[in-house]
Amino acid sequence: MEHLNPEQLKQEQRQTLGSPRMRYGFLAHLLFSSMDLLYGRKKGLSKFKVLEIIARVPYQAWENVAYVAMTHTHADPGFARRIFDRIKESRIQQDNEQWHLLIIGELIAKKGIDENLLLHGFIPQVIALFYYHISWILYVIRPKWSYLLNAYFEDHAEHEYMEYVAENSDLEAERFESIFAGDYGQFASLADLFRQIGYDERVHKLESLTRVDSARFQ
Ligand SMILES: [Fe+2]
Ligand SMILES: [Fe+2]
Repeated sequence: MEHLNPEQLKQEQRQTLGSPRMRYGFLAHLLFSSMDLLYGRKKGLSKFKVLEIIARVPYQAWENVAYVAMTHTHADPGFARRIFDRIKESRIQQDNEQWHLLIIGELIAKKGIDENLLLHGFIPQVIALFYYHISWILYVIRPKWSYLLNAYFEDHAEHEYMEYVAENSDLEAERFESIFAGDYGQFASLADLFRQIGYDERVHKLESLTRVDSARFQ
């Protein structure tokens, strides 16, 4: 993923804050309002962790369907090649979401934020499992529906992160120190870290949106 400098990060944050959220569909609405009910409307690290646990899931579902499809395409190597390229792309996004999750988990531990095992451990896994199956089945029936649902999810995440930075000016003075910095990147502050994460979510959204109108694996 592209790593932006502090000026670019501020510019991208302004762009997100200056653009409206997408008009989310029913399933996305249901997911976001359930999360608000369970974790409150206020943005914070524990809620972001839940978001990131769920964020990896569509990419895993697409990868799973693609592997099944690839197994049955021996007769058409070109088609199998295109599927494989799509799988590689999904893996890059999945890894990127994984870094987000690991970094946020590390921040929660460092700050000594108290988490509830049921609310922050078990329930997110249940939501993720449910969301995995929805993403999977939509992808099998009509891939564009699954891509669109993910675009809504990424758009929501992008706005949440960029707004979080805008609402918490103290993040500008907090240094980012992480054992994952070598993998994900160095940032001058937590504000810049979250701007980069928000920007990543926009890139994920745009990639899903480009897939919405294309047929499966083309
Ligand atoms: Fe993420
Ligand atoms: Fe994302």
